[in-house]
Amino acid sequence: MTYVVTENCIACKYTDCVEVCPVDCFYEGANMLVIHPDECIDCGVCEPECPADAIRPDTEPGMEQWVEFNRKYAVVWPNIVSKRDPLPDAEAMDGVPDKLRTHFVEAPGEGD
Ligand code: SF4
Ligand code: F3S
Repeated sequence: MTYVVTENCIACKYTDCVEVCPVDCFYEGANMLVIHPDECIDCGVCEPECPADAIRPDTEPGMEQWVEFNRKYAVVWPNIVSKRDPLPDAEAMDGVPDKLRTHFVEAPGEGD
């Protein structure tokens, strides 16, 4: 199994998750992160750290599309290992529905 980053990360990108991951398997897009499903060791420590509650185990229903989404972008976006400031509208965007369709940006982030 793996943990995955899901829709509510989009336009928030708090990055608290990267600080706790023991294997540095987060990858950065312009306005969200993903987890590399083959690198994640399923430790679960990132899940409660996300202020937007965007991290889920793939054992939950409906997560198949998010595993594929995380895998797709983990191989093209740069690795991120250090916490940054959240995106400027993170608080306002937390919980906004349909963010994948209306706010997702495919471009890579800066990484570090
Ligand atoms: Fe990293 Fe553990 Fe979260 Fe997987 S579950 S992304 S290994 S902190
Ligand atoms: Fe995204 Fe939550 Fe990490 S908003 S960047 S999954 S702390």
